Amino acid sequence: MADSLTITDNRTGKSYEVPINDGTIKAIDLRKIKVSDDDFGLMTYDPAFLNTAACRSAITFIDGDKGILEYRGYPIEQLAEKSTYIETAYLLLYGDLPTKPQLEQWNHDITYHTILNENLKSLLDAFRYNAHPMARLISTVAALGTFYPEAKDISDNEMRQKQIQRIIAKVITIAAFNYRHRIGMPYAYPDNDLSYPGNFLNMMFRMTETKYKPNPALEHALDVLFILHADHEQNCSTAAMRSVGSSEVDPYSAVAAAAAALYGPLHGGANEAVIHMLNEIGSVAHVPDFIKRVKAGEGVKLMGFGHRVYKNYDPRAKIIKKVADEVFDVTGRNPLLDIALELERIALSDDYFVKRKLYPNVDFYSGLIYQAMAIPMEMFTVLFAIPRVSGWLAQWNEMLSDPDLKISRPRQIFTGSERRDYVDLKKRG
Ligand code: ACO
Repeated sequence: MADSLTITDNRTGKSYEVPINDGTIKAIDLRKIKVSDDDFGLMTYDPAFLNTAACRSAITFIDGDKGILEYRGYPIEQLAEKSTYIETAYLLLYGDLPTKPQLEQWNHDITYHTILNENLKSLLDAFRYNAHPMARLISTVAALGTFYPEAKDISDNEMRQKQIQRIIAKVITIAAFNYRHRIGMPYAYPDNDLSYPGNFLNMMFRMTETKYKPNPALEHALDVLFILHADHEQNCSTAAMRSVGSSEVDPYSAVAAAAAALYGPLHGGANEAVIHMLNEIGSVAHVPDFIKRVKAGEGVKLMGFGHRVYKNYDPRAKIIKKVADEVFDVTGRNPLLDIALELERIALSDDYFVKRKLYPNVDFYSGLIYQAMAIPMEMFTVLFAIPRVSGWLAQWNEMLSDPDLKISRPRQIFTGSERRDYVDLKKRG
């Protein structure tokens, strides 16, 4: 007999058999558990999805207790060491590492889609000079969709793949143009001779030189950071991508929604929050005091620590620490690093953090690297969003071919007033 769960409803004394597949029961199977014929049936209550699988996915595997992260079966450590972001994006999207001709074609397709329609520049120009780059990114990606009305045809696989290439390619241009506008610099156009991260650095930092040459160590570091941030299964922004995408909206709108979710300080905004926190602490001598405040529960959190899924060292944080050393060899050591290392040292030996299994997450060190690379703080979350676009799109693409797909529509436990009659304004208390 297949695995199953027998549930006895103590309200009625009735027993029910519910099948177990992949270590899960279907919430809808509980609906048959009723106290009477007109009862709606039992639901599960799971705010924040602490224990609910919302989809089946073959893209990313995480074992949070063991600190394991794999994309399509490949350990993140091997991809960080041997792959490139562009190859990894292909892997996430299409399930296998590309062959040489496939990779060449994919590289070409991404490279030759990096140019933005010139009309989009008037939208960028409309932002106030100090508008946050994430808010700009969200709006610009949504606006980009208006240039491709055919993107609404999400049932056409070829059309979907075209939009995927466009979004992955153009997101670096959007990000860099928004930055240049913010600092009052002329836009620097893409250079098709450069790699994906090299091209991004070119569009961010090119001055008057005719050919920008990215520093190979920084270009490589950025590529590794892009790989580490490319996907992380059903996190807040990916859940937004799937939920919004389930309404069959075009992928530009769904990516804009996912980017909005990423903007929050508890998600992709944490890398920026870490630098604010390190600046606020100010010196190694102040670390014990700061830890005291965190433990006192004064609403102060140790940003860059803790994770919904990892209850062990985030494997990405380990790799990032190594990348940080390589970057600091070129740029010089970030003075905030000493504060970060001391925070980590104390936190990892302090009962408060040990008991709660709070370890550094991917964002604890990434901001220090970006800062050393002269990337301004407000751009950090944008640097997270750029590679995560491939993860969002891979999840979206997978979702659209899932036979179980339906529009996302959670249930609620209604806690409001019972039916009552409208009271005329004159008669209200
Ligand atoms: N500093 C201090 N205490 C913390 C922290 C932290 N960073 N994170 C969690 N805790 C404490 C909570 O106060 C709680 O304590 P309690 O049991 O005494 O009430 C306990 O640890 C469990 O925390 P939850 O909030 O229940 O954990 P949850 O899984 O809901 O939150 C989250 C995960 C949001 C990442 C949280 O750890 C956090 O806010 N971290 C700081 C922000 C951050 O770095 N976010 C980036 C996450 S990685 C990413 O999105 C790429």
